[in-house]
Amino acid sequence: MVAIKRAALLAGLAQLIGTSAAQDAITDDSHFYGQSPPVYPSPEMVGGNEWEAAFQKAKLLVGQMTLEEKVNLTAGVTKDSTCSGNIPAIERLRFPGMCLSDAGNGLRNTDFVSGFPSGIHVGASWSKDLAFRRGTTMGGEFKTKGVNVLLGPVVGPAWRIVRGGRNWEGFSVDPWLSGQLVAQTVSGIQGQGVITSTKVSILRATLSILIPNVLQHYIGNEQETNRNPEGNISSVSSNIDDKTIHEVYLWPFQDAVRAGSGNIMCSYQRVNNSYGCSNSKTLNGLLKSELGFQGFVVSDWGAQHAGVATAKAGLDVAMPSNGGFWGDHLIEAVKNGSLPESRVTDMAMRVIASWYQFNQDQDFPKPGIGMPSNVLDPHEIVDGRDPAAAPVLLNGAIEGHVLVKNTKDTLPLKSPRMLSLFGYSAKTPDDFNPSANSLFMAAFGENGTMFGGGGSGAITPALAISPFEALKMRAYQDGTAVFNDFISDRPSVEPSSDACIVFGNAWASEGSDRPAIRDDYSDSLIKSVADQCNKTVVIFHNAGPRLVEGFIDHPNVTAVIFAHLPGQESGPALVSLLFGDTSPSGKLPYTVAKNESDYGDVLDPAQPKGEFANFPQADFNEGIYLDYRYFDKKGIEPRYEFGFGLSYTTFAYSNISINYIEGANTYPWPGGPIVSGGQTDLWDAIATVSVNVKNTGSVAGAEVAQLYVGIPGAPTKQQLRGFEKPFLQPSQSETVTFHLTRRDLSVWSVERQKWQLQQGTYKFYVGSSSRRLPLNGTMHL
Ligand SMILES: *[C@@H]1O[C@H](CO)[C@@H](O)[C@H](O)[C@H]1NC(C)=O
Ligand SMILES: *[C@@H]1O[C@H](CO)[C@@H](O)[C@H](O)[C@H]1NC(C)=O
Ligand SMILES: *[C@@H]1O[C@H](CO)[C@@H](O)[C@H](O)[C@H]1NC(C)=O
Ligand SMILES: *[C@@H]1O[C@H](CO)[C@@H](O)[C@H](O)[C@H]1NC(C)=O
Ligand SMILES: *[C@@H]1O[C@H](CO)[C@@H](O)[C@H](O)[C@H]1NC(C)=O
Ligand SMILES: *[C@@H]1O[C@H](CO)[C@@H](O)[C@H](O)[C@H]1NC(C)=O
Ligand SMILES: *[C@@H]1O[C@H](CO)[C@@H](O)[C@H](O)[C@H]1NC(C)=O
Ligand SMILES: *[C@@H]1O[C@H](CO)[C@@H](O)[C@H](O)[C@H]1NC(C)=O
Ligand SMILES: *[C@@H]1O[C@H](CO)[C@@H](O)[C@H](O)[C@H]1NC(C)=O
Ligand SMILES: *[C@@H]1O[C@H](CO)[C@@H](O)[C@H](O)[C@H]1NC(C)=O
Repeated sequence: MVAIKRAALLAGLAQLIGTSAAQDAITDDSHFYGQSPPVYPSPEMVGGNEWEAAFQKAKLLVGQMTLEEKVNLTAGVTKDSTCSGNIPAIERLRFPGMCLSDAGNGLRNTDFVSGFPSGIHVGASWSKDLAFRRGTTMGGEFKTKGVNVLLGPVVGPAWRIVRGGRNWEGFSVDPWLSGQLVAQTVSGIQGQGVITSTKVSILRATLSILIPNVLQHYIGNEQETNRNPEGNISSVSSNIDDKTIHEVYLWPFQDAVRAGSGNIMCSYQRVNNSYGCSNSKTLNGLLKSELGFQGFVVSDWGAQHAGVATAKAGLDVAMPSNGGFWGDHLIEAVKNGSLPESRVTDMAMRVIASWYQFNQDQDFPKPGIGMPSNVLDPHEIVDGRDPAAAPVLLNGAIEGHVLVKNTKDTLPLKSPRMLSLFGYSAKTPDDFNPSANSLFMAAFGENGTMFGGGGSGAITPALAISPFEALKMRAYQDGTAVFNDFISDRPSVEPSSDACIVFGNAWASEGSDRPAIRDDYSDSLIKSVADQCNKTVVIFHNAGPRLVEGFIDHPNVTAVIFAHLPGQESGPALVSLLFGDTSPSGKLPYTVAKNESDYGDVLDPAQPKGEFANFPQADFNEGIYLDYRYFDKKGIEPRYEFGFGLSYTTFAYSNISINYIEGANTYPWPGGPIVSGGQTDLWDAIATVSVNVKNTGSVAGAEVAQLYVGIPGAPTKQQLRGFEKPFLQPSQSETVTFHLTRRDLSVWSVERQKWQLQQGTYKFYVGSSSRRLPLNGTMHL
């Protein structure tokens, strides 16, 4: 890490944001304050491989455009629809324009759409298959509504800050898990069949649904606090060293670009003190050079803060408008020689090539069809929902629930005579009533059950079933009595209750970080019920880790489920699990600590302070040590470890076998050409690890078998590098195989600026969580 002179940095920053405050009190130069290195010029798209045909078509169309027409493609315009943004049409050339809409968990803010499980829920399911099918069915809904660009999925934030307000929109704190699930999601959304075959190459077969997506929010967008400038406080700077950005933050973006992602959204905050959408190192350097990205970069809404500088840094489209920076100014900049026209042509090429790449020139619905700006206005009804989505919505909801405690034979429930239900979050919030402008928050139940989180990643399904509604229906079928009190904080329990179910929320919404990771109201409600009921089941709908120490040792708290953010099928999914129609199969995609302080310095967002009161600095000094990597390093015992989750059955692991792929090239440095995603040979297969997993219990269930690797030369004991989820009948066993690529077994070399395959002894651990690893073995390279 290079420590630059703080005085110089502060002076530069002050100039940048137009204030001269706070330059004097600078004393200590030893601390790391990043500055982003310049990377110019912006690489032009070159086509090649799977982008070649679209590139050639785009050249023909863009070749006919005037400078003004090209410039018009580079910024959004206002339209009479609920599209979050619109790229204008060029009627003369029959380009119909494009509609960009929120978001990664379902189309938001309009009628006749579904609400899918949120990112965190997909992460907790550890199911590549569900991630893919969720992407496919969700992409289909966007297409039916004439949305050209789906504003999702999210792999930034990467969950650095435990209280981060938007972590739940993404999958996991682990970059490898996020990378696998985002690749499946992107492939699904874009209608590409993905087969991760034994060759570990991604084979693409074009299906019928073709819609690109915007990967959000590139890069280092780890906190909501000070994400945007406000008054005399600049937006926060994520100061990330080169090794950490490669091994943690860029990793899942790389998987998504490789899977074919057409667009990337640059983020609000700064990276090394340069805005996400003005940062030539992250845009021109990492994304367009190192990852060979061929699509377009769009700004987060309002994240553009400069004109010519952002064009040169690699921004291609400004949203929701040119904000006074581009438009006529861009034309002037070309005419007066401060920006080469080739850069504007490249912006237009990247937009138009993406449009062709996903066949949107053929039979694509009119942009934003059936999505008027006010749904209460008379309008054409376009039902986006596809019956094929039903099983994906339900199974997706089921598989993201994680059972972490189940004692005294509590679950599944066995024909209870009476169930008692507590906690306001069992039921639909009173304002769950889709009307034009409440749609934005409709499924965000700060005061009711949480189907999803809040903000632009919220869902607004046409119909959603709460836990209470589904439990009541089940009780009706079974003749079970139901007692409920959703209001009192110290309710009385009906003594003949066979089980008591207490619901709690741990909510989050875009715009602010989470207030806390536990709350006294819910903890005391749980304890007060448990004092009176010897089978108390706790259900949390949680948008991130939620601590349980306040009640977990109470002998009457006999079951706990983290229900995450299940989407519209929340109630039916929970009933299916509680009554044993299905066995829980989710695993935590994060660590649940015993105490807040166990998370170390990344519990809370960085704040403006001291001499940096005007320029908040988030120094990512912990490097790659987030979550289990940090707990392992510090020897901290978590309450529930990363990867943990119970089932109604049991599984046994045996017979580990580690195989080096005959003939694999183990030269330390990759030598392949750069295509979308980076050097081609990073995905070469180097080894496989196989184990037998057997269902040793009495009911059917799925198990997430996990592979962790200790890489020689990497400072961590182990890192996730494989998972598979076989579904097994009682006594059935299956051999699962984990495929390891060159990148999986490499560490980033800052010196060579390449991934380096290590020489030495690799350690492999396989089991049911990051701390339950019955099998191990080694391989020498
Ligand atoms: C940020 O600064 C660090 C330290 O100088 C450097 O390693 C890294 O490459 C920089 N990254 C970006 C994106 O500017
Ligand atoms: C560019 O966009 C503006 C504003 O939408 C419009 O008035 C103008 O006609 C467009 N120019 C061309 C050449 O399409
Ligand atoms: C050229 O035009 C741009 C955009 O209006 C402006 O920012 C820049 O200062 C101009 N440069 C010269 C040399 O006039
Ligand atoms: C939740 O309830 C509190 C207190 O009644 C209220 O201030 C808040 O606005 C409510 N939140 C939502 C999202 O309705
Ligand atoms: C557990 O619940 C029973 C009622 O079923 C109650 O009598 C008992 O006191 C509770 N135990 C504790 C430790 O609160
Ligand atoms: C729970 O309490 C009920 C009566 O309230 C009693 O019949 C049952 O045996 C108790 N169960 C346990 C596990 O303590
Ligand atoms: C728990 O964490 C809080 C907040 O970081 C800290 O103040 C407290 O000392 C910690 N308690 C224990 C027992 O470690
Ligand atoms: C920022 O502005 C506020 C109000 O204008 C002022 O009270 C405060 O002192 C300023 N803070 C800094 C660090 O400049
Ligand atoms: C153990 O694994 C090897 C290699 O995968 C396989 O050939 C063998 O049949 C397995 N043995 C058992 C008992 O499953
Ligand atoms: C590897 O597995 C063996 C049992 O097969 C066990 O004795 C040993 O402790 C394990 N090693 C590690 C590092 O987990």
